[in-house]
Parts: sequence; C-alpha cells; structure tokens
Amino acid sequence: MSPALGRRAFLGMTAGAGAALTLGAAGFSHLAGASTGRVLASTAPLPQPFTVPLPIPPTARPTRTEHGTDIYELEQREGRMTILPGLTTTVWGYDGIFPGPTLATRSGHPVKVRVHNNLTVPTVTHLHGGVTPPESDGYPTDLLLPARCAPGQSRDHTMGAHGGNTTTAYRTYDYPMAQQAATLWYHDHRMDHSAPQVWRGLAGFLLITDQEEDQLPLPRGERDIPVMLCDRSFNADGSFRYPDHAHDDFPDGVLGDVQLVNGAPWPVMEVSACRYRLRLLNGSNARRYQLRLDTEGGGHGRFVQIGSDGGLLPAPQRLDTIDIAPGERFDVLVDFADHPVGSRIHLRNLAADGPMREIMRFDVARAARDTTRIPTRLSTAYEDITPSGGVPLRTFDFRRTPTGEDRQMWTINGKPFHPDTVLARPRLGSVERWRFSSDFHHPVHVHLAQFQLTARGNRPPAAKDAGWKDTVDVRPYETVEALVRFTGYKGRYMIHCHNLEHEDMAMMANIQVT
Ligand code: C2O
Ligand code: CU
Ligand code: CU
Repeated sequence: MSPALGRRAFLGMTAGAGAALTLGAAGFSHLAGASTGRVLASTAPLPQPFTVPLPIPPTARPTRTEHGTDIYELEQREGRMTILPGLTTTVWGYDGIFPGPTLATRSGHPVKVRVHNNLTVPTVTHLHGGVTPPESDGYPTDLLLPARCAPGQSRDHTMGAHGGNTTTAYRTYDYPMAQQAATLWYHDHRMDHSAPQVWRGLAGFLLITDQEEDQLPLPRGERDIPVMLCDRSFNADGSFRYPDHAHDDFPDGVLGDVQLVNGAPWPVMEVSACRYRLRLLNGSNARRYQLRLDTEGGGHGRFVQIGSDGGLLPAPQRLDTIDIAPGERFDVLVDFADHPVGSRIHLRNLAADGPMREIMRFDVARAARDTTRIPTRLSTAYEDITPSGGVPLRTFDFRRTPTGEDRQMWTINGKPFHPDTVLARPRLGSVERWRFSSDFHHPVHVHLAQFQLTARGNRPPAAKDAGWKDTVDVRPYETVEALVRFTGYKGRYMIHCHNLEHEDMAMMANIQVT
C-alpha cells in the first residue's frame, strides 16, 4: 500500500466502522432518515437552546470595480468569536468570521475574489454551485499557501505535496456569474483536509440575483434569510473539537452535538407575521437533516419550496418536510402569518434524537403588512433537457472497498482519488445520463455541471428532488439517475462525496470536460 493510500484508508470491522457495518444491508432501510457518521461529544457545557439571536452574516463590499468586475478581498485568518455563551472560540474564517461574509452578486456581472491566507495551513477556496473556469474552481491541490510560508522557505510535505498549482501571498478566483439567480456557498476544498478546515469555519454564502427574480413578488431584505445549518463539537475551553484521527476513528463522518445556525447554537429569531424566504444550506460535514416546522401546540408550519441547488424552480411546490444532505440547498418560503402573534415555531430535525432534534425557533412577535405573494411561475431557466437521441450513460458507484490488511477506503468505481485518473470525459455543451449507486449515505456532488434527476430507486424522483441540482443524496443501496448538462468551460473538474470525511478519505474523481 502506498503511503498516501495508507493515510486515507481506515480499519474495517473494528472501532468506528463496526457499528455501522454490523447493521448490514437490511439495517439501513429504517435508518433512511438518520445520519451517516458518529457523534463526537463536546466537553464544553451545552448552551440553553433559544437564548442566542440568529446572526445574519454581513454582506461583503467590493474593494473596487474594474471594467464592470467587482473585486473583493477576503482574508483567511483566525478570529475570536463567542459561539457558546461565556466562552471564546477561535475560528478559521474568511475575514476571521464564521460563517464568512456573504457575497451578493448579480447574474452576468463577473466578480473576482482575491483570497489572502493568513492562517497557518494551506487552503483552497471552491465556489459550490458555481460555473467557474477550471483554474478558479478550487481544485484540491491548487493550494494557496499561508503568507508566512514564503517561497524558498522549506515546506513540509503537507504543503504542496500533490504537484498542484500552488501559490503564495494571494490567489484570485474568477467568478464570471454567467448563471441564474441561486444560493451558492464557498468553502475550503484542500486535499485531505477539507473536513477539519470547514469545521473550523471556512465557509460562507454567495448569492446570485437576476432580472427574472427581480420581477417576482418574493420577500426581500431582512425577510430574505440565509440559513447555514452546521453541527459542531466544542472543547471545555470553547474551542472547536475535531478528532485527531478522524480517518481511523470517524471514517463514516464526524457529527457534532451542538446544532449551529449561521454559527449560533440553537438560535431564536423574532419574526413578523408575514412571509419570509429562507435559503437553507446544509453546511455540515456529515449530518443529514429531515426538516419540519412544528408549532408548540402540536401543529405544523409548511415550506413552499421555490429553489433548489441551481436556482429557482419553474413553479413553487409545497413540502411538509425537507431532507437535506451536506452541500444541498433548499430555497423556501415560510408564511408566519399562518400562526397567531405570540406563536413559537420550532425548526426541527426529525433525523436526530435528543437535543439535536431541535435546530432553531421562530417567535412570531408582531403583525405586519405583507405585499409578497407566492408566484405561480418562478423561472424559465429550468427546461426539459431530455436528449432526443441516445446519450452516454456513465455509472458512478460510491462504496467502501477493501484494500487488504483489514483496511478499507471510500472509493468511486472501486478507486480512491488520484489526481491523474480521469473517470469521465464529457463534451462541453452535451447532456449525459449519469447513474449513481452507493452502499451508504453518500451526498454526491458534481462541480461545474447542474443536473436534473430522472429516477430514484427505479421510480420517478421524489418531490424534493425537483429543480437544477449539483448535489444529491444517494441513500444506501439506492440508484439515482440524472441528466447532467455540461455548460461553461472545458477543463478538469470533479465529482465527489460531500460527506467531508469521505471526501478527505479520497472519495473523489476527476472529470475532464473536453
Ligand atoms: Cu461543496 Cu467540491 O464541494
Ligand atoms: Cu462544488
Ligand atoms: Cu460518502
């Protein structure tokens, strides 16, 4: 076994993996709503729920505009934040905050994001959901070295070992924004280290608006709320707790025991009795959620979904619960006028037990005038892309594969990631049929391309599978089929599992768009 393979492989049939494995194939079916992974318990005292107000990440301001391109500077650095009341957490944040600042962009208006790395580790920034040229897509070995790791200085093997396109000082990411209104997010994508680096805070929103969306009577301003769901664990001193040996001890994924929303534990938000837009993002490493709105009287609120990963749906649809896997976004409307002033509505995770069943609470504080409506039509950007003739069918099997010596790896089509191996060569401008299968919960994510689901488990896709998607949860022993459209750029991109521990254990593959 090569050293690289050894580092990413994990022990089979013992310790962490054992619990999941002994359930066997049959055991998974009733766990369809549960999470893949293992809880790392905090040693800090857990806070009282619903005491901290929901924070809204600040919106970044461009430092200047050059020839119609907005230039942003983001500095990756440590920042000290109060996440658990009375304790201080050092985060690794874009501009030292977690979540990072929200980039508010406009379809057709390119932006450049110049990232400075003042952390002590190399980083890679990826815009998830972005149609981005390959040099700016955040390929896992395209490292941005810490500023203090100057060229000529000796580098240890963790810095630039993979022969990628490494830079120091800063890196400028080009985001052309030639895509429809959507909720995107940016996050760290460093080879073998995305999970701990995102856990420590390297994630934020990027929102795109467009003319079509401008015309819609949707909630705006402070009634348009980005909602980043993440679970984390904390040490007694308030620092983030992450396993030293996640690959050996948490091969299935790391689950926290504190639920954060926009970086705050079990927050509360006072709302007016009117319609809000919630841009739900699952930014957790491994945790899956089944979301429901519960009133304290035993009733339920309802979600009206207006958007998916890639942007607005053609038409809204009502959902009583939302299954959301790591990396996925659901853009929803919630009308708090359905509930009398004074009501308290809990956003819950039905896929968890105990304190983690709660996420946050909305307190309906006051009556309000509401001029918004639920439009009957939303976007024309979702079109039928069913090709008339035959199209290539490619299969991607996400599975644990034994590597000998009692060790296993997370693999795609039996292989761990290798920078030189290309699993698919789709043509720019083409549509392909892709089939994903798995042995476990694997949120499958494709860079660059958005897709439309055509089947889940030999049946038509579920309501929650609607719209343009870039991430789809493939459940144990399930097959999902999608039509994938390649637009944008030629070059090297990836497909990978968005369970970040699986991703770091090499559950990734190259796609070369030709
Ligand atoms: Cu959100 Cu390749 O990642
Ligand atoms: Cu991505
Ligand atoms: Cu996975």
